[in-house]
Amino acid sequence: MTTKAIKLAPSILAADFARLGEQVAEAERAGADRIHVDVMDGHFVPNLSMGAAVVRSLRKVTRLPLEAHLMISNPDFFVEEFAQAGADSFLVHWEGNNDLSRTVQCIRALGKRVGVAINPATAASVLEEILQDLDQVLVMTVNPGFGHQHFLHTVLPKITRARQMIDQNMPGSCDLEVDGGVDATTAPLAVAAGADVLVAGSAIFNDSESVTAAMERLRTALRP
Ligand code: DX5
Ligand code: ZN
Repeated sequence: MTTKAIKLAPSILAADFARLGEQVAEAERAGADRIHVDVMDGHFVPNLSMGAAVVRSLRKVTRLPLEAHLMISNPDFFVEEFAQAGADSFLVHWEGNNDLSRTVQCIRALGKRVGVAINPATAASVLEEILQDLDQVLVMTVNPGFGHQHFLHTVLPKITRARQMIDQNMPGSCDLEVDGGVDATTAPLAVAAGADVLVAGSAIFNDSESVTAAMERLRTALRP
């Protein structure tokens, strides 16, 4: 397993929305590296979640970077609103976007970091021609749309392929993030495969332990 620092990105999809500010502040105190905001439109994925208003409110309670994972059909229509609300980075999907380069350039023009997300059935090779424009790659380890799903182990070899592509083409300058079903059991597998940023929702925000205890458990699982 790699010994470099692994970043944790708590996904607020699993948070208690009535205590959202509190829970994000606790995640920050417990050493979260960024906050992952899952945006769903009921069209690109069969679920609804939250919009820019949530980012605007969170911007007041945390200094952590806020990353917007846009699971929506027309990301170009919304990036400016999210940027103005305080989003620092965007993850946009390869799937269903006929003009991905335009979306990426549009985010760059706003001065924000940008990453491309790929679903479990999408090959890492689709990243080849866009990789040089990216700050992040997000490999989905569940089908997007819902929290609390099981990590798809079949995606592990793809994480390794994405790691090789990044190391060959832009060593050190592009994050490899994994999203979906990450917990104390699967986190070490994702890291061993090459991930350096882990999104975790239900493993961090749940009723059985505090956010602090949950994050410590994940970090402990990652210690060699
Ligand atoms: C799924 C989202 C994930 C999700 C992760 O579509 O992109 O970020 O919130 O939640 P868990 O960690 O519970 O799988
Ligand atoms: Zn996500």
